[in-house]
Amino acid sequence: MNVYTDSSHERIFGTYPLTGDTLRSALEDAYAVGYRAFDTAQEYENESVIGDFLASVGPEADGAHLTTKVMPANFGSATEFLSSVEKSLERLRVERVNVLLVHWPPIGEDILPSLDYLQQALQRGFAEHIGISNYTRQMMHTAAAAVEVPLAVNQVEFHPLIDQSPLEAGALETGIPLSSYCSLARGAIAGRPEFEEIGRAYGKTGTQVALRWILQKGIPVITMSTSYKNIKSNFDIVDFELSHSDVEKIEAMRAENYRVISLEEAPWAPRWDTPTPRENRPAASFTRPAASSKGV
Ligand SMILES: NC(=O)c1ccc[n+]([C@@H]2O[C@H](COP(=O)([O-])OP(=O)(O)OC[C@H]3O[C@@H](n4cnc5c(N)ncnc54)[C@H](OP(=O)(O)O)[C@@H]3O)[C@@H](O)[C@H]2O)c1
Repeated sequence: MNVYTDSSHERIFGTYPLTGDTLRSALEDAYAVGYRAFDTAQEYENESVIGDFLASVGPEADGAHLTTKVMPANFGSATEFLSSVEKSLERLRVERVNVLLVHWPPIGEDILPSLDYLQQALQRGFAEHIGISNYTRQMMHTAAAAVEVPLAVNQVEFHPLIDQSPLEAGALETGIPLSSYCSLARGAIAGRPEFEEIGRAYGKTGTQVALRWILQKGIPVITMSTSYKNIKSNFDIVDFELSHSDVEKIEAMRAENYRVISLEEAPWAPRWDTPTPRENRPAASFTRPAASSKGV
């Protein structure tokens, strides 16, 4: 089960680090092009802008799909965790979110208490689904064994310039699907000739090729942009299908191992998995999700 792809919410609008009027304007553009799934977090301090925006759209925005994340500063106790989620719901102006995540594994601490509090949030009806973010393959196993319900997602950095094969293996082993953030390597993919060249055959840009490659793996895609042109382009990725040989060309680029959220960038991150050498890996699987023209 994939709570994003199964509900046609595999294209998710990311909101970090946007706030205030910049976020409001980006949300207007995202909504206009068809985005109905939005990703936020307590740490982004922008949940109220999203709640206010969706309230201003009116009843037709009731179908919006919301993911938010609890920050580690609120992992201290069940009471602290749950009251922080209640505040998130107030800011988002909903009774429950679609997906509630723990944003990071706590640094050097047991991950089990925060997972227990996350389950309590689910039991209280604060979320339809729960999941994790920035968990390593080993942590995915610990989480899957500890939590009594299926975890809906592990939201991680995922794009064609990083080899996240250990996490893909972890997803297969544990049944916890991945979703991708920094899907365009925070802009680093834009203008790269290898992607542009592949895109020409489909009448698409290099960034659309990169996002399509992620979707074709069955992985929902989160992208953020403040430009209408880029927002529209990032959404317009479901009407073409990359050939097996183009997928293989892109797979080869993962060897670059360009990580946006490095340990220098995020010293609180866990020790990231190191990739398995390509020659020792099982043959790549090529999934072809049905192309969808649905805007929601
Ligand atoms: N769970 C976590 O720990 C975590 C960590 C990081 C991010 N996230 C989530 O994932 C979302 C996306 O990640 P991200 O914002 O870091 O990275 P991203 O989507 O890979 O990149 C965003 C950057 O790329 C540019 N861009 C977007 N579309 C483009 C296009 N079509 N052509 C050229 N440039 C383009 C944007 O600039 P313009 O504004 O000029 O378009 C922006 O500077 C975040 O907003 C957040 O919701 C989660």
